[in-house]
Order: sequence, then structure tokens, then C-alpha cells
Amino acid sequence: MDKHTDPKFELLEHITTAVVMMDRDTRVLYLNPAAEMLFRVSLRQVSGQRLLNFAPAAELLDTLVRDVVHTGRTYTQRERRLPVSNNHLITVDCTVTPLPRERVLLELAEIDRHLRITREHHLVAQNRAIRELIRGLAHEIKNPLGGLRGAAQLLERELEAEDLHEYTQVIIDEADRLQDLVDSLLGPNAVPRRESVNIHQVLERVRQLAVAEAPSGVRLVRDYDPSIPPVTAQFDHLVQACLNLVRNALQALGNAGEIILRTRTQRQFTIAGRNHKLVVRIDVMDTGPGIPPEQLEQIFYPMVTTRPEGSGLGLPIAQTLINQHGGLIECSSEVGQTVFTIWLPLESES
Ligand SMILES: Nc1ncnc2c1ncn2[C@@H]1O[C@H](COP(=O)(O)OP(=O)(O)O)[C@@H](O)[C@H]1O
Ligand SMILES: [Mg+2]
Repeated sequence: MDKHTDPKFELLEHITTAVVMMDRDTRVLYLNPAAEMLFRVSLRQVSGQRLLNFAPAAELLDTLVRDVVHTGRTYTQRERRLPVSNNHLITVDCTVTPLPRERVLLELAEIDRHLRITREHHLVAQNRAIRELIRGLAHEIKNPLGGLRGAAQLLERELEAEDLHEYTQVIIDEADRLQDLVDSLLGPNAVPRRESVNIHQVLERVRQLAVAEAPSGVRLVRDYDPSIPPVTAQFDHLVQACLNLVRNALQALGNAGEIILRTRTQRQFTIAGRNHKLVVRIDVMDTGPGIPPEQLEQIFYPMVTTRPEGSGLGLPIAQTLINQHGGLIECSSEVGQTVFTIWLPLESES
């Protein structure tokens, strides 16, 4: 049977588990496309080569394979951390099986995706709780604030001495400032309008605003997938969310660096427990200093900021706006590469 129509072969070609078949010296006889992706090589390049020569975590795998050849017993290890390319760690379930004629089968199933989904559930629940807490607090502050401001105005009218107005003005100005803060905490409240939106128009609008603000050493690069169909969303909400991410990137970069706006689609993707046939992914990537891991967990909380003039509201507001569209924002960061990813469902029924 032709290998391209052989169902067994087809299975190997499409399975998401990385599969490598080797001889007893870990020379590659076959690897499937999932393994090519994982190790970032092609079968043609590495056929007949030893695992050690191309796989970054090869020493460990090499030892495993030798053990299996030696003992003849299948070996499985769960949730093993494995470096795959520079600085990138993945978590895999790893199985090595001895085959007849001194060959060995290595299977690596990536489980980061499962971990991601669990974490993301947590993130959504956490967001909801925070939002409710804040809204409650904001309402509590809003009412007495109105009274305070009104009383200060009355007082000002009654005060004969002009020089005392300075003090009532302080109360009024500060009350107004608090009012603005509370309004932004109460945040985008209304259910978003649903219109057909081309996300590239959104990004072009954001880009236009960002270019005007960006120092000359900062480059804004587009990497769009023009085939992405329109999303159902409120245009200005998406602009606001993306702008908040791009402004943060600008601030992180200072005078020089690069911001990449990238769009892609992805099939079969789960957002907040709902599986979607097709989602759009918008990456806002910058080459700035990154966010330390211990801070990464906190940045979507309101009032979390590392900038003296920051409000710490940019990310929670962006997250809320995207959540209201059934989407989610995630972040991954290392020195020199920070990516904020907006996931938005594409099908119309959601
Ligand atoms: N692209 C980025 N690079 C580095 N740090 C970032 C980036 N985006 C956000 N941050 C961190 O997250 C914090 C919170 O961001 P945000 O909610 O927008 O509030 P603000 O911008 O007012 O500080 C920032 O103060 C910064 O420390
Ligand atoms: Mg910000």
C-alpha cells in the first residue's frame, strides 16, 4: 500500500504526540510531524542521525533509551520538564518502548495545553471575583463622594474669605479625581454592541495611535493573516483593549525596540471552558525587559503597577473588555520577549 494512503501511516502523520523511532544507538529511523515540530527539525535533516546531535534534551533521552534497550522494559515518566529550544521549557509525558530488532520507540505527549486550560479556568474565576469586589467597593465610594463634593461647594459659597477657597478647591478637585478613578474601576459596564468587525482595522487604528506616541527608535511591525474572517464585537472596545496592551509595550520599551502585532487563527480551542471551532489570536509582542515570573501572576489585578505614574488599570480593563466578548487575554514573558495574547471566538453563535 502506498504510504500516503496507508491508514497506519496517516495516523502517525496526524497524531499530536511526538513519535520517534530509533535504533539501539539512538539513530533516528523515523519521526512524525509532531516530533519535527517539537524538535524543530525535519525528518530529512535528521534521518540516520543520533538524537544527541539535534535534540536539546538529548542526553536525558539518550540515557532513557539506553536503559530501555538494556532492560527491555517500557519506561514511562509523567510531567517531565524538557527544554526544546533556547530557553523554552515544555512539560511532557514521556514513554520509551522497546521494539523488536533492537529498535526503540519514543513518545512525547505535550501536556502544557492541559495545564494551560486548568490555569485559565482559575484566571477567569479569579477575574470575576476581583471584578465584583471592585465594583462593590467603587459603588460604596461613589455615593459618599458625591455628598462630600456637594458639601464642599456649599461651604465654598458660604466662605467669606477668598483665600480659604483654595482649601475647598482641593476637596472638590480631589473628589473629581476620585470620581474618575471610581468610574474607570466600575469600568466598561454595558453589554458590548455586536457588529461585524475586521480585526485588522482595529489593529491599524491602534497602530496609528501608537505610531504617534512612539519614540523614533521603536518599530511597529505588522504580521497579519489577511484571511481572518470578521469577528462579532464592539469596535471601540477592541481598540481600547489592544491599545492598553500596545501602550504597555511602548512603556516597557522606552526609547528603542520592536513591537509586533500578529494575527492568526486557531482551530478547536477552549476559552473559559467553552470549546470553539475557530478562534482568532492577536499577539502584541515586544522586545522589552519582560515581566518577572513572580509578578506575572499579579499584573491582571487592578492597581498593580510598577510605574510611578501608572494606574494599574490598563490590563484589568483590557481583560474585562475581552471577557465580555467571550475571549481571554494571556501573557507569557521572558527577558527580551513579552507576548500578550488576545483570544477571541470567531463563530457567530457565541
Ligand atoms: N509589555 C510589558 N512589558 C513589561 N511589563 C509590563 C508589560 N505590560 C504590563 N507590564 C507590567 O504590568 C503592570 C500593569 O500594567 P497596567 O495594568 O497596564 O497598569 P499600568 O500601565 O498603569 O502600570 C505594569 O506596571 C508593568 O509592570
Ligand atoms: Mg498600562
